[in-house]
Amino acid sequence: MSADKRGMHGIWGSRWTFILAATGSAVGLGNIWKFPYITGENGGGAFVLMYLVCILVAGVPVMMAEVLLGRKGRMSPIHTMQAMARENKAPAFFSGIGWMGAVSGFFILSFYSVIAGWTLAYVGKMASGEFLGATAEVAKTSFGSLLSDPWMLLGLHTLFMLMTGFVIARGVKHGLEDSVRLLMPLLFLMLILLLGYSITTPGFTQGWNFLFTFDADKLTTESIVVALGHSFFTLSLGMGAIMAYGAYMPAQASLGKTILAVAFLDTLVALVAGLIIFPIVFSHGLEPASGPGLMFQTLPIAFGALPGGAFIGTVFFVLVVIAAWSSAISIAEPAVAWAVEKGFSRFRATFGVCFLAWLLGIGSVLSFNQWAEFKFLRGTFFDNLDFITANVMMPLGGVLIAIFVGWFMTRESVAAEARVKSPVLFNIWRFMVRYISPIAIFYIFIEGLS
Ligand code: TRP
Repeated sequence: MSADKRGMHGIWGSRWTFILAATGSAVGLGNIWKFPYITGENGGGAFVLMYLVCILVAGVPVMMAEVLLGRKGRMSPIHTMQAMARENKAPAFFSGIGWMGAVSGFFILSFYSVIAGWTLAYVGKMASGEFLGATAEVAKTSFGSLLSDPWMLLGLHTLFMLMTGFVIARGVKHGLEDSVRLLMPLLFLMLILLLGYSITTPGFTQGWNFLFTFDADKLTTESIVVALGHSFFTLSLGMGAIMAYGAYMPAQASLGKTILAVAFLDTLVALVAGLIIFPIVFSHGLEPASGPGLMFQTLPIAFGALPGGAFIGTVFFVLVVIAAWSSAISIAEPAVAWAVEKGFSRFRATFGVCFLAWLLGIGSVLSFNQWAEFKFLRGTFFDNLDFITANVMMPLGGVLIAIFVGWFMTRESVAAEARVKSPVLFNIWRFMVRYISPIAIFYIFIEGLS
């Protein structure tokens, strides 16, 4: 492959834009929808602690490695990994990281778009005033009736996929950059507002304790695997999304600080989302382990109780849609960038990727109604896609990325690309990437599969 592919997709305006775009990718349904519900299913505090540990020992080091590879290669993850494997004389299967990433991108995008469709529906539900003064019962019934309507879900899934395709087709600069600049800060503002509400609810202390009281008895192997998988999912790691974004990062920006900022913001949003949702759960005697519907059955109660709740609720769900949107874009980017390098127009590449993911998404649409009883391996079709991507493919990608950067690239070339000012921090990071992250991921992985 010729060097002229390098940099053909454009470069972010500044380091700050990279932070925004990477945060746009990281902060999404994973933080607001998935983190609270898996925390509820896995017993709370002990799970939260494991998740934080996984972010630190696996997530952050791998994220730096992945962005570093992206910026060094300046191509789609598939071509970057091929070039890097060759340059560093690593076994050819390392170039498979890029391929596996593109495949998991299809899988993830397919169900991500279905769930994002639910949030679209909630924009409408909120605006209609359906939840004014709503009880837990009303919120639950409303969610149930949405899920039982496959045509509705399909329509919403289609709409969200079209929105995603629209931005991707416009390209990195106009499509991605402009959309994250304004919307991310707005989302933070809304979360703070909701946190203000949840602090006033009677269940706040109980919600706080649920999230932050460590009860080792509740920790199972399964929950540790889920915590690891989620640390990858929430930081968009292990499948090339953040590598693709790294490819558009300005050359002089320092990696360490930038990535710590992104990981910190992402974790903060997840914890705040938990602090909003669980107090409502306990104030209304709801079940923390109610699964993927958790956010949709709790937040409407909060909005229903707030003055101006219909309006605030509408704004909130619009922002969640936007957070999901800026994430979905990054899930598709590795495959789209690859197709563009292969000579397809950006429009055609986008269309192809989005269409395939849309088709596969129909399986997830049906998982919540027609096929709900059709279970194999880990549960429904949706459950299996979720499990295999977050808990198998992404950690596997992460381990390979860490090993590649830690063991196959020379210390000098890594140091030159990272542009870190502090040798001590660099050494700590390199040690983590060489030993701690791979061993931790590998160990959890093996435990989980056994
Ligand atoms: N991190 C996003 C979230 O938390 C989802 C996401 C975006 C993602 N890009 C990804 C997940 C790449 C896996 C891989 O919602």
